[in-house]
Amino acid sequence: MESKYTLGMIGLGTMGRNLLLNMADNGFAVTGYDKDPNMIEKLKQDGSKHNLTAYSSLEDFIASLELPRRIMLLVPAGPIVDSVIKELEPLLEKGDMIIDSGNSHFTDTSRRAIELSDIGIHFFGMGISGGEEGARFGPSIMPGGDKTAYSNMKEILEAVSAKVNGDPCVAYIGPGASGHFVKMVHNGIEYSMMQLLAESYDIMKNALDYSNEEIYSVFEKWNNGRLQSFLLEVTRDIFKVKDDKTNNFLLDMIKDEAKSKGTGKWTSQVSMDLQLPIPTINEAVSTRDLSKYKSLRVALSKVYAQDNTLAENKEQFIIELEQALYFSVITSYAQGLHLLWQASISYKYELQLHEIAQIWRGGCIIRAEFLEDIYQAYKKQPDLEHLYADAGVQEKMKEILPGMRSVVTHALQSGLAIPAFASALTYFDSLRTERMPSNLIQAQRDFFGAHRFERTDAEGTFHAIWNPINA
Ligand code: 6PG
Repeated sequence: MESKYTLGMIGLGTMGRNLLLNMADNGFAVTGYDKDPNMIEKLKQDGSKHNLTAYSSLEDFIASLELPRRIMLLVPAGPIVDSVIKELEPLLEKGDMIIDSGNSHFTDTSRRAIELSDIGIHFFGMGISGGEEGARFGPSIMPGGDKTAYSNMKEILEAVSAKVNGDPCVAYIGPGASGHFVKMVHNGIEYSMMQLLAESYDIMKNALDYSNEEIYSVFEKWNNGRLQSFLLEVTRDIFKVKDDKTNNFLLDMIKDEAKSKGTGKWTSQVSMDLQLPIPTINEAVSTRDLSKYKSLRVALSKVYAQDNTLAENKEQFIIELEQALYFSVITSYAQGLHLLWQASISYKYELQLHEIAQIWRGGCIIRAEFLEDIYQAYKKQPDLEHLYADAGVQEKMKEILPGMRSVVTHALQSGLAIPAFASALTYFDSLRTERMPSNLIQAQRDFFGAHRFERTDAEGTFHAIWNPINA
């Protein structure tokens, strides 16, 4: 058989198929492999006008690829990735590349990269964002791995990615598992933004008594301004959709129990490991989990019933809510980027935060107008520790802070749960506190556990006899 295909995709589900069709649209000769004959048939049908084919024999698939082989995996994260790699190993040659484009945990990616480099195979962990539509017409792509080997994939990835002002939304992220790490943090920010939009909806519905039509109009207005983003657009459009079974709004017919696949949780777990706080993202993860305790919530809602209506001037409150959302969105990005900043040091990822902002500007789920400001901030100061420290961001934060405080204060007073908004404000207030009450924590630890403390006026660690009775 003649070797002719530039890239082969393993896993022809919606994402794999769409990405392959996108490559074919861009003139690349590509092929696919799937154990399921229906998936092969579907790809052949959808791609009948393109230079592509698909195999159900792994040997034939491998033999059809140009050397060095570029093999992309779009299979469910976890043990399936390992079993596919095991099947591939005996069929590959030194210099071949495996690109795992699923949402794998970055520690799995690190392990796989090390194991495969021992036998001369380049393993890339590559985050792809943008859902089905993105995969088909231009996603944001986050590849990490061996830099030299990356040059072999660059042309294809740049061609298929989304473009902003002509720039491709893909860049080499860094060594090791950095691609999957950055995608994981992208998802953490995604969770946070989704939760903030959900809390905004809750405030409008339950504190201001707005109808779904009115909420649509508010989101529409916000999306025409500085809050413009893909997630706001999607959220706005949800408020238009009617249920075909009942003629109610579909949103009103959906159970209030949120699910997740794990990337948000991983972001929170890593942030704890790195001791780099991202409380607004954590709240977004926890609140999805809390929503599952439905029967407990129903019981407690009766015991602790409270009217959540706010008597504020509604128009003025909506102006402040827009400011609060903007403040909290900035904070969500700031927390995610701060985590990347720390991970880059701890894991030696050599991340270029301005490039990451650049590739998030298009194609991905968290694309937003504000990413342009983030891009400019990190371009100006590549080693910027925290987004709050950027002069342009500071100006914005100061302008919207009074609105943020007002919304949080009133919503808390009304008894509405606003975990993400409240945590964003407290995070901000903690970070701008010169002397925190953590001295008391240290005193407590030393009191009951002799854990010692550091002094403000001398080097070293100290222990005190806090309670002479027990001395
Ligand atoms: C993306 C999304 C994508 C997916 C999330 C959903 O960037 O395209 O993040 O990866 O929609 O994994 O995650 P949950 O199921 O955990 O909400």
